[in-house]
Amino acid sequence: MSEFVVEMKDIVKTFGQVQAVKNGQFTLRKGEIHSLIGENGAGKSTMMKLLYGMYPINSGEIIIKGERMSELTPKMAIERGIGMVHQEFMLVQELTVLENIVLGFEPKKGLRIDFDKARKDVNKYIEEYNMEVQLDKRISQISVGEAQRVEIIKTLMRGADTIILDEPTAVLTPQEAERLFEILENLRAGGKSIVFISHKLNEVMQISDRISVMRQGQYMGTVNKTETSPLDLTKRMIGREVFLNIEKDYGQAGEKILDVQDVWVSSHKETSKIRGMSLSVHAGEIVGIAGIDGNGQSELIEAITGLRKVEKGRVIVCGQDVTNKSVRKIREAGLSHIPEDRNRMGLDRAMTIRDNLVAVQIDKAPFSNGGLMNISNQDHYSEEIVKEFDIRPTDYHLPTSSLSGGNAQKVVVAREVSIGNKLLIASQPTRGVDIGAIELIRNTLEKAKKAGTGVLLVSAELEEIISLSDRIIVIHEGKITGEMMASEANENNLGLLMMGGHVEEGGAQAG
Ligand SMILES: Nc1ncnc2c1ncn2[C@@H]1O[C@H](COP(=O)(O)OP(=O)(O)OP(=O)(O)O)[C@@H](O)[C@H]1O
Ligand SMILES: [Mg+2]
Repeated sequence: MSEFVVEMKDIVKTFGQVQAVKNGQFTLRKGEIHSLIGENGAGKSTMMKLLYGMYPINSGEIIIKGERMSELTPKMAIERGIGMVHQEFMLVQELTVLENIVLGFEPKKGLRIDFDKARKDVNKYIEEYNMEVQLDKRISQISVGEAQRVEIIKTLMRGADTIILDEPTAVLTPQEAERLFEILENLRAGGKSIVFISHKLNEVMQISDRISVMRQGQYMGTVNKTETSPLDLTKRMIGREVFLNIEKDYGQAGEKILDVQDVWVSSHKETSKIRGMSLSVHAGEIVGIAGIDGNGQSELIEAITGLRKVEKGRVIVCGQDVTNKSVRKIREAGLSHIPEDRNRMGLDRAMTIRDNLVAVQIDKAPFSNGGLMNISNQDHYSEEIVKEFDIRPTDYHLPTSSLSGGNAQKVVVAREVSIGNKLLIASQPTRGVDIGAIELIRNTLEKAKKAGTGVLLVSAELEEIISLSDRIIVIHEGKITGEMMASEANENNLGLLMMGGHVEEGGAQAG
């Protein structure tokens, strides 16, 4: 038998006019962690969905454990030990963790589901690979990191020995990502083979045994981790070097665009309740919120944008009191919002790229006049935006459901920035996009700032906060623990404040 558990040779896959994979090659050894990298839309997710039997290939060969698959369905893939954790989770929010794990795969005792047996089986995996989950909590009550562990356990319960993880760390905090890596290493030690998709080269360099690169549907080679570098990988992915250093230009901040006055917000999690927060954002500045995920940043943003009740205090946008006003009213006051979860709040996946781009301005000129839609203006606008933001494919009549993860994110960013509102709230704006697109999105935010927009930035990447912001506010357990100019900030002094410590003249002190 071959040394590979999976072989994919000369794969071609098209969706209508779009050639998602032109020349796909991939091999997986037993017990290795193999990273698959490439720009947004390079064909990574498609390659792995093909391996999981989600679509038929146009041509090529898929060989699983020596068996050449002339036909492949998810059921057949699962029976041969393939498991997949998707870019977008597929858990049922209102069911418990245990119910989700056994869903569609219930061990039967008579006609009833044998939850005791399921619980025992699950506990075995939890112990073996050290992945803590709370079996009786609902999915809606657990963190993203924990939901991901649930997805992994689900694949193991179905007998997977090959596990595909599509951008698992895009939604994780650095701490959660470290935890995932420990689990992946445990799985590898247990003989499992793992496919890891990521845009973060430091992670790829940390966790992989081998790395394969794709560019625009083409296979660009496979290298051993020990024989490559981030620079080498970047060149293979995009054919050039990328510089993420922003030329920051902090002039004079203008009028107050956002004024949060002693705001209190409740939350089901103790650490994320907002307990009296005051902050402001002025025209022409980027204010970054630094904090460990789950310390109130999502609640703060939801309260400002009208998605969560403000219990006490006031929110002023462009001089208007918008406390507890509707999302629509707050937008009209001058707010744009790049939400952290593009699928739940950012995009209507069934609608076309164009309709998503113009959605929030559809009843205004030049997109409609006197109640009549002006389609040619909408088309013209979409064409320009698609070009400016390098959204691929460029056909704006396609539904956003056919976009790759990173390109969907670009649509949300493009729409919100292009409205030209005075206040822009950007939550995790570069989540899931490739380095080229990170560069583009960061430059876009910098440009909006120079044009006079006030930007409030929330990001799990400390490096992003430091390099983009002019001013940084640190939060811990729903309170502001410090504020400084970005020029004075570094991972150490921010990190300490994020843990609830305080910084004193001439040094940092844990508090
Ligand atoms: N169901 C679909 N229908 C139509 N086109 C699709 C579909 N799925 C993917 N595509 C197209 O195939 C190409 C490859 O997409 P894929 O999702 O594999 O990219 P990716 O490498 O995973 O990118 P990302 O890093 O952004 O997630 C893209 O041009 C995408 O728009
Ligand atoms: Mg993808």
